[in-house]
Amino acid sequence: MGKFYITTPIYYPSDNLHIGHAYTTVVADALARYHRQIGDEVRFLTGTDEHGQKIQRRAEAAGVSPQAYVDRIVANIKDLWLKFKISNDDFIRTTEARHEEAVQKIFERLYRQGDIYKSEYEGWYCTPCEAFWLERQLQEGNKCPDCGRDVELVKEESYFFRLSKYADRLMKYIEEHPEFIQPVSRKNEMINNFLKPGLEDLCVSRTTFDWGIKVPFDPKHVVYVWLDALSNYLTALGYPEETDLFRKFWPADVHLVGKEIVRFHTIIWPIILMALDLPLPKQVFGHGWLVLESGKMSKSKGNVIDPVVLIDKYGLDAIRYYLLREIPFGADGFYSEEALISRINQDLANDLGNLLHRSLSMIEKFNGGIIPAPGGYQDLDRQVIQQAEESVADLKSAMESLEVNQALAAIFKLVSRANKYIDEAAPWALAKQPEQQERLHTVLYVMAETLRLVAVLLEPFLVETPAKIREQLGIKEENTGYFESIKWGRLKSGVRTKKGLPIFPRIEEEKATEPAAVKRPEPKKEAAQPSEVKADRITIDEFAKIDLRVAKVLEAEKVEGSDKLLKLKINIAGEERQIVAGIAQHYSAEQLIGKEIVVVANLKPAKLRGILSEGMLLAASNDSGKLALVRPEVEIGSGAKVK
Ligand code: ME8
Ligand code: MG
Repeated sequence: MGKFYITTPIYYPSDNLHIGHAYTTVVADALARYHRQIGDEVRFLTGTDEHGQKIQRRAEAAGVSPQAYVDRIVANIKDLWLKFKISNDDFIRTTEARHEEAVQKIFERLYRQGDIYKSEYEGWYCTPCEAFWLERQLQEGNKCPDCGRDVELVKEESYFFRLSKYADRLMKYIEEHPEFIQPVSRKNEMINNFLKPGLEDLCVSRTTFDWGIKVPFDPKHVVYVWLDALSNYLTALGYPEETDLFRKFWPADVHLVGKEIVRFHTIIWPIILMALDLPLPKQVFGHGWLVLESGKMSKSKGNVIDPVVLIDKYGLDAIRYYLLREIPFGADGFYSEEALISRINQDLANDLGNLLHRSLSMIEKFNGGIIPAPGGYQDLDRQVIQQAEESVADLKSAMESLEVNQALAAIFKLVSRANKYIDEAAPWALAKQPEQQERLHTVLYVMAETLRLVAVLLEPFLVETPAKIREQLGIKEENTGYFESIKWGRLKSGVRTKKGLPIFPRIEEEKATEPAAVKRPEPKKEAAQPSEVKADRITIDEFAKIDLRVAKVLEAEKVEGSDKLLKLKINIAGEERQIVAGIAQHYSAEQLIGKEIVVVANLKPAKLRGILSEGMLLAASNDSGKLALVRPEVEIGSGAKVK
């Protein structure tokens, strides 16, 4: 078994950590958990980057000392990672003595060996990015080329680091190690935009403010915050002491960073390491941003999405799943609450939740809740077993290339295959034939064993769900090691299952586009009881917000793979639209074509089973599962208002 040292960037203390920030850390967490699962010795580091002009200014604005300012916020950041169940092994703060002392030693060594020298800096500085820029690199109007904000002219005595001396060596290293900067597009960007035009020596100390690590032999200087910050990956291992941690874990296997800070990690950082005569990290992976339609989330734009609110609303595993699944790694991903809800409903509620729920219902109904022993496998069963093997292999290669979204896709391919298997194997039909009992047992076993395996595979990504699946299956976490636990057939027969509540209830908003009654899985046998009329009253103005219209059904067809949904093409006052409605158990397509119905015309579009629905039809339903469409009493023409 190997070792695996993975880091996130250390975060600037901010009161506005948003869902985009959580992305880096959640991805790193999934990678760390996976490597632990397969038996590697893992070191997973995160922390906070607390010095510099930006923090000093924020503290001044808040009217507190920088130390008091960072102490309060860092406590919140630690709470946030606890909330996300981040499994970091260490959390480094750059204000800790272990870090400050080590950075002073690094600075002193570089100075003594002549890689750092004293001079004067005159040039541009972007305080939000804490970055120096040359005149020629600026955007029109003296703007930072990274963040587009105003840069400041700086003129002060400074120490400089001889980046230029190492430029050729770095270029050669990058060319000989194609895996060093990933994805490849970022490597090319670094070469073409920064290395080829030539590296200038880097200013590595400041004198116009004092919130930083003092240069030991010249204490009116504080160390440039990026030299301070980057060193954390070493100082957290005890460097420059030759500690066991350092010997075991350096060089890092992966520095996971957002794309805007790849430059610091692939130009400045490797040169610092070369100067210190240390091996370079094996890989710097620059991931894309989570953006909104209105651009990148940022405090200054006021468009931040609070991750705590999302977790409280949708649950931790739903948010982790969304972050890990939705964004192709390396590329930008668009955040929207609709996309989040549709992921939860489709993958987690419909596919995974349903697989568990229906499997356990059938094991309960057809085998008294006991996991049966399988008989001989047939072709159909082997197809599922083969998909399981394929999913395990695909997951492995996806994790090796850090494509966590592809790893999850591989697992959910198995989930879908298993759902399809149930439809094909039709255990309900087998249950009616006593001579098919052995076959029935095999099918039920394949269903349960797939679920056990899915729980194992989900372990690095979802932190609550695997245990919930096992609990309902009536089994315990295995301590056999990963490579045993992924073998088909480890599930013991004779175990009593414990079917529980659905692990991922569907999210309301989608409910709003479907008549509610068809969602109730088992209609009550008793006579229908009208439900109580709601006590909350609304005003006529609130009601007027709902644009109810008569629409004509032009076309209707069943949605493939769903026994409840119909896809309708409707006409509202000349406008054609598509809506999806959960009425297929009550109306056939033929019954609807040409009819006038009533729809909510100004409902936000939503996706059901991946199909766009641009409105919702009205239907009445009662508690015994009966459903009736609401229709105009006489033909009135499409587009007519209902009020
Ligand atoms: O850069 N989408 O810290 P930071 C995805 N202190 N990732 C995002 C994001 C978004 N919308 N917004 C931020 C720093 N991030 C330095 C690092 S390391 C030696 C010093 C990510 O708090 C960002 O890309 O600005 C980075 O990986 C992390 O959040 C911390 O950013
Ligand atoms: Mg940033």
